[in-house]
Amino acid sequence: MQVESRSVTTNQLGPHDGLSRRVSRALATPWRKPVAEHTRRAFEAAHAWLTAQDAPLVLDAGCGVGLSTRALARLHENHAVIGIDRSADRLSRNHGALPDNALLVRADLVDFWRLALEAGWRPRHHYLLYPNPYPKSTHLKMRWHGHPVFPHLLGLGGRLELRSNWRIYVEEFAQALQQATGTVAMVEPWVLAGHFLTPFERKYHASGQSLWRLQADLPHAPELIPDTLMEEP
Ligand SMILES: C[S@@+](CC[C@H](N)C(=O)[O-])C[C@H]1O[C@@H](n2cnc3c(N)ncnc32)[C@H](O)[C@@H]1O
Repeated sequence: MQVESRSVTTNQLGPHDGLSRRVSRALATPWRKPVAEHTRRAFEAAHAWLTAQDAPLVLDAGCGVGLSTRALARLHENHAVIGIDRSADRLSRNHGALPDNALLVRADLVDFWRLALEAGWRPRHHYLLYPNPYPKSTHLKMRWHGHPVFPHLLGLGGRLELRSNWRIYVEEFAQALQQATGTVAMVEPWVLAGHFLTPFERKYHASGQSLWRLQADLPHAPELIPDTLMEEP
């Protein structure tokens, strides 16, 4: 069965005018939102699993039903692959047994990324596959590059890969990435050769939508977090 998917509708003609201001604020202003207890517990369990795996880490951030996590575990067979999503409903769908080197975690990424950075995690690969676009211009602060968590997600480092069906999202991310780290990343069309990594990718492709991708190799850089150096030991 094919599911039709409408392309993104937005009132933006290009990257948001307020993006640079949001990124500057995220880089300069300490952000002290408390971590939710359920995510702290989920992180601790994930940390114990990762320690036992004793393998390089791959993150699948916003993994939905976890099909991409399974595929990435097969692709990166000597790695430990963690898929994170806040939706219990999506994570509970039965897509078969998980490979031994994969784990699905229910958690809010806003907290999970901060805990991961605090714990010194250094993912070798970090996938952001079709994040929610929040396409209204008033929703800029909900996109990952407009959110205060942006320096934390970049600070983890590793090979970051973002895919989206909304070109402006990827262009904005590239702009914010360059502003925060100096890294220039190309926004390129993502042309599928019949292999779908995620259900959203399959759905968008089946509806004839163009897909976009960005990749960047980032150093581990906890110093991007504004209060890291100022905090008491
Ligand atoms: C558009 S779906 C894409 C899912 C999957 N990557 C795919 O391509 O099929 C975005 C996913 O991000 C998850 N998500 C959004 N905000 C999140 C957050 N703060 N923490 C964890 N997951 C989040 C949603 O629950 C949803 O499953």
